[in-house]
Amino acid sequence: MLNYLTSTRFADELSGVEDVVVICTSELAEYVPKGNTLLLTEQNPEDVFYGIHAWNIEQGHYDTLKSFVSESARVESSAIVAPNVFVDDGAFIGHGTVVLANTYVGKEVVLKPNATIGGDGFEIKNIRGKRSIVAHAGGVWLSEGVEIGSGTCIDKGLFGDFTYLGPFAKLSNLIQVGHAGSIGKASGLASCSQINATIEDAVWMAPNVSLNPRVTVGSHGFVGTGSVVTRDIPPHALAYGSPAKVHGWVCECRAKLSFRHGKATCTACNSRYVQDAGGKIKKM
Ligand SMILES: CC(C)(COP(=O)(O)OP(=O)(O)OC[C@H]1O[C@@H](n2cnc3c(N)ncnc32)[C@H](O)[C@@H]1OP(=O)(O)O)[C@@H](O)C(=O)NCCC(=O)NCCS
Ligand SMILES: [Zn+2]
Repeated sequence: MLNYLTSTRFADELSGVEDVVVICTSELAEYVPKGNTLLLTEQNPEDVFYGIHAWNIEQGHYDTLKSFVSESARVESSAIVAPNVFVDDGAFIGHGTVVLANTYVGKEVVLKPNATIGGDGFEIKNIRGKRSIVAHAGGVWLSEGVEIGSGTCIDKGLFGDFTYLGPFAKLSNLIQVGHAGSIGKASGLASCSQINATIEDAVWMAPNVSLNPRVTVGSHGFVGTGSVVTRDIPPHALAYGSPAKVHGWVCECRAKLSFRHGKATCTACNSRYVQDAGGKIKKM
């Protein structure tokens, strides 16, 4: 493992770390815990780190997926499927769609025309003295039954990790999923959202939602049109606005729930829920 330290401000993040090669300047060496290896540099340690990362990619030091297209998959004539893409049974890749290296296209996945899957994420660093977009070493994992709309872009992970879409997640047109995005099974995302965060299972996201990095939208949540999500949204919450706030609760069937004395019965499907003192919702 390779890491770097640029300032005493981040030294705490190395506490408890062992067996890591840490790139740093001689002034910062004393802040690296014992049990790690120092790689001393006069340059900016971050620039050195990303220079090594770029070199590792150029040298092919990262694992890649095997190139494979199932006989039962349909790839339209103007689609591009790069090497190191695995296209599983029954998948469909529409006209003009580009699928780049290290993408797994699961069983019966549908990629509508003009989607781009597996591009480098948006990370800008100084690499060998030049301001550059960092080449990404990871991939994109589209589980069985995923559908991706036109103009939607899903970027690959940065350090060998996969941007993940769970089974039967459905994404509409013009969505951007960044390199730290993860979308749970059976979630539905309407058009034009920006996702660089964690969406759990069976979430509904209305159009034009922006998520701050690293937030989590809990399972069965509902995020309203145009929301800006700046904090975690708990499971079953109906949240909207900028910043998004919890305005109510929704059933698995997406009907609104009304709680009385900590209990609710869905008027649409009769599912029953309890709410604990901390506000957490559980199906009975
Ligand atoms: C989340 C949502 C369901 C809220 O609807 P609702 O609970 O019926 O809310 P209401 O229309 O009763 O509005 C309640 C209040 O919240 C406000 N509000 C509603 N939605 C809002 C939103 N997305 N952002 C900010 N404020 C919102 C209303 O202006 C109203 O404010 P007021 O009381 O000051 O007048 C709705 O915003 C939404 O996103 N609908 C889904 C759209 C969708 O998914 N379409 C599919 C496209 S494929
Ligand atoms: Zn219900």
